Amino acid sequence: MQSQTQPDKRQVLIFSSLDEVALAAAERFVQTATAAISQNGRFSVALAGGNTPKNMYQLLAGEPYRSQIDWAKVYIFFGDERCVPPDHPDSNFRMANEAILSHVPIGAEQIFRMAGENPDYEAAANAYAQQLQNFFGLEAGNGPSPENFPRFDLVLLGMGPDGHTASLFPGTGALQERGRPVAANFVQKLNAHRLTLTAPTINRAANIWFMVVGADKAAPLQQVLEGEFQPQIYPSQLIRPQNGQLVFMLDEAAAAKLSK
Ligand code: 6PG
Repeated sequence: MQSQTQPDKRQVLIFSSLDEVALAAAERFVQTATAAISQNGRFSVALAGGNTPKNMYQLLAGEPYRSQIDWAKVYIFFGDERCVPPDHPDSNFRMANEAILSHVPIGAEQIFRMAGENPDYEAAANAYAQQLQNFFGLEAGNGPSPENFPRFDLVLLGMGPDGHTASLFPGTGALQERGRPVAANFVQKLNAHRLTLTAPTINRAANIWFMVVGADKAAPLQQVLEGEFQPQIYPSQLIRPQNGQLVFMLDEAAAAKLSK
């Protein structure tokens, strides 16, 4: 593994393969969860969708990782969701449920699913925001100051070949959202609505991990990490923790265009 800590305290970890990324992320997840539970009595994590994190989720669902985590104190959220029912093949909840949630001793009351099945997308976003306010003990409607946003112990993210993360896609309305923790976002190129945590929410987290693998991510990742700041084009550039640790866990293919 190669490791670089960037000027803005961003850490870039490069591994030989997806499997190595998944192993490192699983080990780090156990450490981070254990530390949060020890300090605060609970661990709140927003899961990423897509394919990359699946391997890590499956590792955590088995030994030696499963029994190292006090699942009774783990609270599961989602970084984004497709606007489909929870049993739909595209559902991020379904992916996470199959990969990990149905295999670990965690209660339904500890899992906070975004209601992708709700055709009223704004209502679904507002309902999730309310769940976040309740869980994190926030006052409603206190405006965009940072302390009014939920502070997750960990937010897991992927990055698409277009530089999107969560469901913050290039040129979409949710990129500008600064006053709400959750947004409904219409993605023209997918002709689909999504639900997503907004950049202020993600940036409030104590730990933010991008897991990015594959040659198709090399060019956008180089732009995100080393290019001009153009978040409308590369929304992953919006992710800059206010008071947290940002880690990029990459395989060599995705890191291939980064300056050494
Ligand atoms: C989603 C994810 C999305 C994902 C990227 C990368 O709902 O699809 O939240 O942001 O992380 O598209 O996906 P892969 O990991 O499958 O490349």
